[in-house]
Amino acid sequence: MADRLRVGVAGLGTVGAAVARLLHRQADALTARTRRNIVITAVSARDAAKERDVDLSQADFFADPVELAASPSIDLFVELIGGAEGPARKSVETALAHGKSVVTANKALLAAHGLRLAALAEEKHVALAFEASVAGGIPIVKTLREGLAGNSIERVYGILNGTCNYILSRMELEQLSFAQCLAEAQRLGYAEADPSFDIGGFDTAHKLSILTSLAFGTKIDASAVDVEGIEGVTLADIEAAEELGFRIKLLGVAQRTADGVEQRVHPTMVRKTTAIAQVMGVVNAVTIDADAVHELTLVGPGAGGDATASAVVADIADIAKGVRSAPFGVATNALVELRRTPMRRHEGGYYIRLSVPDVPGAFARIATRMAERSISLESIMQRGGLRGAGRTRTDPVGVILITHATSEHLVREALDAIYADGVIAEKAQVIRIERE
Ligand SMILES: NC(=O)c1ccc[n+]([C@@H]2O[C@H](COP(=O)([O-])OP(=O)(O)OC[C@H]3O[C@@H](n4cnc5c(N)ncnc54)[C@H](OP(=O)(O)O)[C@@H]3O)[C@@H](O)[C@H]2O)c1
Repeated sequence: MADRLRVGVAGLGTVGAAVARLLHRQADALTARTRRNIVITAVSARDAAKERDVDLSQADFFADPVELAASPSIDLFVELIGGAEGPARKSVETALAHGKSVVTANKALLAAHGLRLAALAEEKHVALAFEASVAGGIPIVKTLREGLAGNSIERVYGILNGTCNYILSRMELEQLSFAQCLAEAQRLGYAEADPSFDIGGFDTAHKLSILTSLAFGTKIDASAVDVEGIEGVTLADIEAAEELGFRIKLLGVAQRTADGVEQRVHPTMVRKTTAIAQVMGVVNAVTIDADAVHELTLVGPGAGGDATASAVVADIADIAKGVRSAPFGVATNALVELRRTPMRRHEGGYYIRLSVPDVPGAFARIATRMAERSISLESIMQRGGLRGAGRTRTDPVGVILITHATSEHLVREALDAIYADGVIAEKAQVIRIERE
């Protein structure tokens, strides 16, 4: 008879209930793989009476997850409540303080308190596992921490928010506006009633900060992520990208630079030929550039009960086997302070869409302002410039510039000079191009 591992699950929503179902469905296989009998012996949720589509009648119900976390009746605490503070934080701290290993899917908690929680886990010689916190069912945490232990990582980037990728994919495939696609995502349950956390890029930033720490051995620092959302992406940009051989994705990018680490989240032009550009809909993907493996891309479901439960159960199985890795790959006291490379030092190509009045000299002025800063142009495209059909001579035309690699501060300086010249009708649209 295999040893029992008594699991307490706090939170029985989308993920929690799916974890309970998966543990039940895979009970025999998990026992064979771990030589333990993994049993949910206690649970916590707000509503004890709610139907969860899983039989938990053998588990004790705790109204207070913190009390569950401290209970001697469990060996392992699984936190699936969510939120950086409140009962999630308090119960995880309590479980660790009581010498219990913790599994969580909570990126907000880790982004805010991951370092302190990891130190507490280490002090108590227990595990803190969070595979499900980034990219749902994709085993990216384990890949970075164990699978690529022999590599030096240069860059890790990915599509970490399915809602944003769904919206951008729909805009491209159906030629719909951002607002139409957001409404559709909400109708289908892919986007929250208040979608600002997703579309503003903040959810991606939380996940990215976890990946950065794992990839570069730095202390997690979500406040050092430069964040831009997808609200400003227009159909004109999506169409221009298509013509130029790009796709627009909301990427989270962590990149080693000469003087630190760049962490950024923004709409990004990616070449249509790259692996990441093929990822459409609610799917997630992460690409890693590393010295030995070169390039590796993992693609899969980034959310949803079953996919996320897959990652949670993998962590539970590791703990059942007695595997205890340092949460961020190295001991917490060996994690180094993250030296932030500011966005203005970012180097790369740029897509710049300008609305230029069709008057003599306007374009020459723009070209001069770019040349003054040694910004060289790879291509120039004019949109909607044909006269006739009611256009007057001075109506603005769309001009799209694709630059060769340059730096962010030079682009910003050139645009400021162009604004000051008064030769463009509205603020420029700037989208960074990610190198392959
Ligand atoms: N959903 C996904 O696809 C996904 C993917 C990756 C990671 N995650 C992460 O997984 C975690 C859970 O997400 P979810 O989508 O499963 O959330 P959810 O469906 O809203 O479920 C939250 C659960 O927590 C319970 N809860 C809330 N406050 C509580 C309290 N004070 N005491 C006890 N229980 C409480 C709720 O109880 P009641 O049911 O009784 O209301 C509910 O069962 C979050 O950290 C989320 O970021 C989710």
